[in-house]
Amino acid sequence: MKTIMVKASKTYPVFIDSNLICNAGTFIKDNVTPKPAKVALFCDDKVEPFYADVVEKSLKDSGFETYRFIFKNGESQKHMGTIIQMIEFLAQNDFTRKDLAVALGGGVTGDMTGFSAAIFKRGIRFVQIPTTLLAMVDSSVGGKTGCNLSAGKNLAGAFYQPELVICDTNGLETVDDKDFSCGLA
Ligand SMILES: NC(=O)c1ccc[n+]([C@@H]2O[C@H](COP(=O)([O-])OP(=O)(O)OC[C@H]3O[C@@H](n4cnc5c(N)ncnc54)[C@H](O)[C@@H]3O)[C@@H](O)[C@H]2O)c1
Repeated sequence: MKTIMVKASKTYPVFIDSNLICNAGTFIKDNVTPKPAKVALFCDDKVEPFYADVVEKSLKDSGFETYRFIFKNGESQKHMGTIIQMIEFLAQNDFTRKDLAVALGGGVTGDMTGFSAAIFKRGIRFVQIPTTLLAMVDSSVGGKTGCNLSAGKNLAGAFYQPELVICDTNGLETVDDKDFSCGLA
């Protein structure tokens, strides 16, 4: 496994290898301190059937209480309406500032989960599990989070760094050719 330490406003690891998401809970337990009690898994409806169960099982096996929020996939969903649903979901499930959000998906999921984590209760911790090549090599790292407004793309947002990034290269097997090539360009 390759580990890259990102030095931004805080320092955090990016883990890169195959077969990592089945151990997502262990990576989180070992790298997020103090340990969160609750974990909210944010995922779109295209990624969920491939990867959500395995990540959630790993989180439960590591002792986390898990909650799952699914939204429709695609750039058209990257707006304030979805962000509000995400933070309402955290509030309805009594998440505190000690708890954790996990983004499981492409850049849309990562940007919106990070932004929700940045603004909920003025900031809770979050973890990126990118599942597209673009998200693995670009959007999951660097802390740019946000969503689109009617006037244009990425007009609302915050700089907010994750606690860690888990890049499981097996996830790329299910990405279609168009989305895979987005990450190459
Ligand atoms: N924060 C940053 O620094 C940064 C940098 C570059 C791009 N971005 C943002 O990233 C977004 C684009 O990211 P993207 O291309 O990952 O888009 P995306 O998240 O919409 O994913 C593209 C499509 O692939 C599907 N998908 C994701 N992972 C999959 C998998 N493993 N198997 C099958 N299908 C999968 C998704 O459901 C979606 O339909 C844009 O909103 C862009 O603004 C952010």
